[in-house]
Amino acid sequence: MDSRHLCMSFFILFFLVLANEAFQDAFANSCNVTGGRSQIVVPRGAYMVKSAVFNGPCKGWIEFRVEGTIKAPAGLVSDDDWVAFRHFDGLAITGKGTFHGFGESAWNFNNCEKNPKCRRLPISIQLDFVNNSVVSGINSLNSKYFHVKIHQSHRIKIDGVHIIAPEDSPNTDGIHIGNSENIRILNSIIATGDDCVSMGPGSKDIWVHNVTCGPGHGISIGSLGKYDNEADVNGIKVQNCTLSGTNYGLRIKTWASDIQLSAYNITYDNVIIDNAYNPIFIDQQYCPFDGCDQSAKPSSVQIKDVWFKNIRGSSKSQLAVTLQCSRKYPCNNINFWNINLLYHGPEGSVNATCMNVRGSASGIEKPASCI
Ligand SMILES: *[C@@H]1O[C@H](CO)[C@@H](O)[C@H](O)[C@H]1NC(C)=O
Ligand SMILES: *[C@@H]1O[C@H](CO)[C@@H](O)[C@H](O)[C@H]1NC(C)=O
Ligand SMILES: *[C@@H]1O[C@H](CO)[C@@H](O)[C@H](O)[C@H]1NC(C)=O
Ligand SMILES: *[C@@H]1O[C@H](CO)[C@@H](O)[C@H](O)[C@H]1NC(C)=O
Ligand SMILES: *[C@@H]1O[C@H](CO)[C@@H](O)[C@H](O)[C@H]1NC(C)=O
Ligand SMILES: *[C@@H]1O[C@H](CO)[C@@H](O)[C@H](O)[C@H]1NC(C)=O
Repeated sequence: MDSRHLCMSFFILFFLVLANEAFQDAFANSCNVTGGRSQIVVPRGAYMVKSAVFNGPCKGWIEFRVEGTIKAPAGLVSDDDWVAFRHFDGLAITGKGTFHGFGESAWNFNNCEKNPKCRRLPISIQLDFVNNSVVSGINSLNSKYFHVKIHQSHRIKIDGVHIIAPEDSPNTDGIHIGNSENIRILNSIIATGDDCVSMGPGSKDIWVHNVTCGPGHGISIGSLGKYDNEADVNGIKVQNCTLSGTNYGLRIKTWASDIQLSAYNITYDNVIIDNAYNPIFIDQQYCPFDGCDQSAKPSSVQIKDVWFKNIRGSSKSQLAVTLQCSRKYPCNNINFWNINLLYHGPEGSVNATCMNVRGSASGIEKPASCI
């Protein structure tokens, strides 16, 4: 493989010279190399980047290797995206460096909880229309909004990444997937303020393996049923993961609306949940803000063919399992096998609650199954 090494020289932050142009020049050159693999290296050091959007397609493989720290500007910024990659077939984002989103300077401006038309803050690393690619080793610190978003992409492997933001940082989802297929999230550590992994509409064939999550809101499917024309979720496997000190654990969340789609073929296997308030939660009346009229409509999302196998650990609340399904589309074929969740609080033994669920339970049943 012929390899070209482009080492960029940057001005140091002294004069707040932005590294944007250096990035774009190096990229334009690499993108044009036919065949083989070109490398763009961000060497050790700190570089301020206002926003960097890399638009493919390129003629060969591109490796974007980050050894230094790429810093986002502080405060509210006008760009929608911070670092984005679009239209690639064969991209590797590697290195031991850090994407530092400086979210701490912007989280106060996030008013999405009160204003449904809020303007969202920038996502740190966005992959749009990217195929056959890998993100490995890198760190993402204090994103302003999501750390990583994967959209309209196929065959992506995220391996050994480290994602960090404080527990109370708003909407700092670790990795969000939407309308994407064949995504692997492996061997990663995610500690953040929202979902560690969230799998939105159109997530298909996703494998989350050996991921440690916490703090955060756990590993979620959804939210689903909010927008028109959402595609089904099919083929999710969450395996050998540990959730520690999260508020939720394994959660499927759908809005109470007329928007119709299905989420099916979902397996959770060998997951340790340590001290979550709601370890297992199917919430078909999802409404993170006030002001939804929950009684008006049942959700139109059909959840079916779900397996919870070998889930163990502890619950911070007595109610370790909540299956609150739609009365219009009851959950179907929801199966529990060897669920062992402890509760040490004063109220009594761990319990479960079910609404509109069909399925089965066998093996260890702690809490006793409500199906
Ligand atoms: C890309 O390659 C073409 C043809 O070899 C050349 O004309 C063009 O200037 C190159 N563009 C860049 C940005 O290097
Ligand atoms: C990615 O793969 C999908 C499905 O194979 C294809 O439709 C799409 O055009 C590809 N996109 C790119 C950027 O290669
Ligand atoms: C699981 O991921 C951790 C990093 O979080 C890694 O150190 C460990 O080797 C991985 N375990 C396996 C079995 O791959
Ligand atoms: C279920 O999902 C797996 C991937 O997790 C996929 O290989 C399989 O084909 C799916 N089964 C159905 C019936 O869609
Ligand atoms: C998941 O963990 C189990 C038990 O710790 C192990 O036997 C299995 O090989 C692991 N699965 C994978 C795909 O590594
Ligand atoms: C489960 O625990 C909750 C909270 O303490 C309690 O309100 C409810 O009655 C319990 N349900 C069962 C079935 O024991």
